[in-house]
Amino acid sequence: MSRIIYVNGRYQPYHNAAVHAEDRGFQFADSVYEVIEVLSGKLVDAPRHLDRLERSLSELSMAAPVGRAALLAIIAETLKRNRVTNGIVYIQVTRGSGPRDFAFPPAATPPTLVVIARRQSQDKIAATAQTGIKVITRPDIRWGRCDIKTVMLLPACLAKHDAHEAGANDVWFYDRDGVITEGASANAWIVTERGAAVTRPLCHALLGGITRRTLIDAIAAEGVAFEERAFTRDEALRAREAFITSATNTVMPVIEIDGHQIGDGRPGPLTRQLRTRFHHFADIQTPFV
Ligand code: PDD
Repeated sequence: MSRIIYVNGRYQPYHNAAVHAEDRGFQFADSVYEVIEVLSGKLVDAPRHLDRLERSLSELSMAAPVGRAALLAIIAETLKRNRVTNGIVYIQVTRGSGPRDFAFPPAATPPTLVVIARRQSQDKIAATAQTGIKVITRPDIRWGRCDIKTVMLLPACLAKHDAHEAGANDVWFYDRDGVITEGASANAWIVTERGAAVTRPLCHALLGGITRRTLIDAIAAEGVAFEERAFTRDEALRAREAFITSATNTVMPVIEIDGHQIGDGRPGPLTRQLRTRFHHFADIQTPFV
């Protein structure tokens, strides 16, 4: 089955799908994106993801390429044409293309919109969650507005390459004070000795993850203790449990940080509970308005 990608109004076969060589996303990373989980043909927490997309666009004074209803229709069509029922949908918007110039192009420049649907095996993710993942830590060398979901992902790519080379699965970034900011493409969590789930408060240093947001609702409803506060790499190494949250993995146990075993080296009970319960608290809808 040939994969179909939506680019600027057209559904194109994978090998033909292209944007302009002078697209500002390509030249300047002048671009934002979203990744939404697709479960049984439905979108997980689409309203929150689309709210965040609108916020990212607005923070960068970037025009929305289409309205929300039209975007949902494009997402639905892209999922259908690719027969994706379980996986993710990737949405990217750039400030459009034009002769290379750092300053913004004329306001009438049409934004670029790309939508990609991709299958993900639920079984494969579930199998990874059974054993948990290993992370390494790296200094956070990213920019000062990590709360905006931009495609400026080179530090994440470099760090994930390091993780791969080190035989680990992922990365947690730490700031100058040794405080964990977040994962390279996920939010970072630990569980304390008394069983409280801890994650860093939102600020410009990290992305307000939608999975993080929904998990906070789940934690409240499940009566689990919650501390929204900074934690250091040292505290993480001593944590009872650790995990990450993202649209691609929901809740994924972390069993090793920089070679130090977390807890007994197996996914912890609270992490497993939250992973099982997560989708009960998510807004899961077919992609229609
Ligand atoms: N990444 N922090 C960063 C830096 C991220 O890139 C992501 C998501 C998250 C978690 O956000 P959410 O729960 O809304 O997925 C946190 C996506 C999945 C990606 O880049 O593929």
